[in-house]
Amino acid sequence: MGGDTVQTAVRNAPLLECLAGKVHPTPPMWMMRQAGRYLPEYRALRAEKGGFLELVYDSPSAAEITLQPLKRFEMDAAILFSDILIVPYAMGQNLQFLVGEGPHLSPTLVDHALESLVPAHERLDAIYETVRLVKADLAPEKAFLGFAGSAWTVATYMVNGEGSKDQHATRAYAYRDPQAFQVLIDAIVDLTITYLIGQIDAGVDAVQIFDSWSGSLSPAQFERWVIAPNARIAAAIHEARPGIPVIGFPKGAGEKLAAYARETGVDALGLDETIDPVWAAANIPAHMPVQGNLDPLALLAGGEQMESAVRHIIRTFEGRPHIFNLGHGILQQTPIEHVHALLTLVKQGA
Ligand code: CP3
Repeated sequence: MGGDTVQTAVRNAPLLECLAGKVHPTPPMWMMRQAGRYLPEYRALRAEKGGFLELVYDSPSAAEITLQPLKRFEMDAAILFSDILIVPYAMGQNLQFLVGEGPHLSPTLVDHALESLVPAHERLDAIYETVRLVKADLAPEKAFLGFAGSAWTVATYMVNGEGSKDQHATRAYAYRDPQAFQVLIDAIVDLTITYLIGQIDAGVDAVQIFDSWSGSLSPAQFERWVIAPNARIAAAIHEARPGIPVIGFPKGAGEKLAAYARETGVDALGLDETIDPVWAAANIPAHMPVQGNLDPLALLAGGEQMESAVRHIIRTFEGRPHIFNLGHGILQQTPIEHVHALLTLVKQGA
């Protein structure tokens, strides 16, 4: 993939062309968490079905939610409605989403209880069904993105049982018993490869690896727990399903992004809002598509601050393949008119 292989036949969908290295006059666009709580139609369906996990496991509802933002906005891609924690659930942990508290996994793996889990891979089947339903309804010029969490980010939830501020328990475990932690990482990588190939075979066009907590690792630990496992995932996808782009999104990686871009083999790079576009333009290989990186808080605020930030991003990435996105998920309180204003601005090419 990347700039050298633009000749590969790519469906006439701007976002897929961009991932194959084509530069558009205006960047294609989607938003992380574009299907979610800022949309009243999402909140209504969630209230009807009872909760987040109930939605994910009701494939017709999950497909409807995946498509909700495309009915309202001219997004260039749909992203599968699911969650990165479906992988630990399929590895046999219990998963609950408690309102106002976020996710809970049990038992926690801080004491290497991986062997005690009873795998439940059939928990992936409903997700593949959602992909098939969306694919049947999606216009061909729209890209369809699948995803998984990175092994490191998923491990932080599996070890600790819930989110934490600095992933302390998991970072400590990785130092205390690197062999045992490696076994866990390898198990997550193996199932993630199976899961992403399953999503591809059911109909997604590209996959994104969300590495939300990669920022908390020191450089050597970043090499071992972020770069190496992601390289294994990217290589396995390229080998098994050639031509399917992999987007890596190592949030918080800062200047370690350059090594991530060079060493993981991902085809495109997601940038969070803390990355200076000028730095990225200078330090990320010019053929590599970049995605991002408006601060979700700038979108929440709207107005002139947002407009100048959008123009700066678009101008800085002019001349290279760029997918416009936020630096992280859209916030629940974001007014829908601000999303309309953003789309108008991006489609004008700022
Ligand atoms: O981008 C998308 O719209 C695709 C769907 C998607 C969701 N979660 C839906 C979701 C994706 C790609 C994710 C990724 C995810 N999930 C990450 C990595 C990206 C990131 O946001 O950092 C992480 C760390 C998770 C785990 C997770 N899921 C947490 C911590 C939470 C609770 C916090 C929160 O934002 O609500 C969730 C719940 C979740 N996942 C919701 C959605 C739409 C909210 C559910 C609801 O209350 O209705």
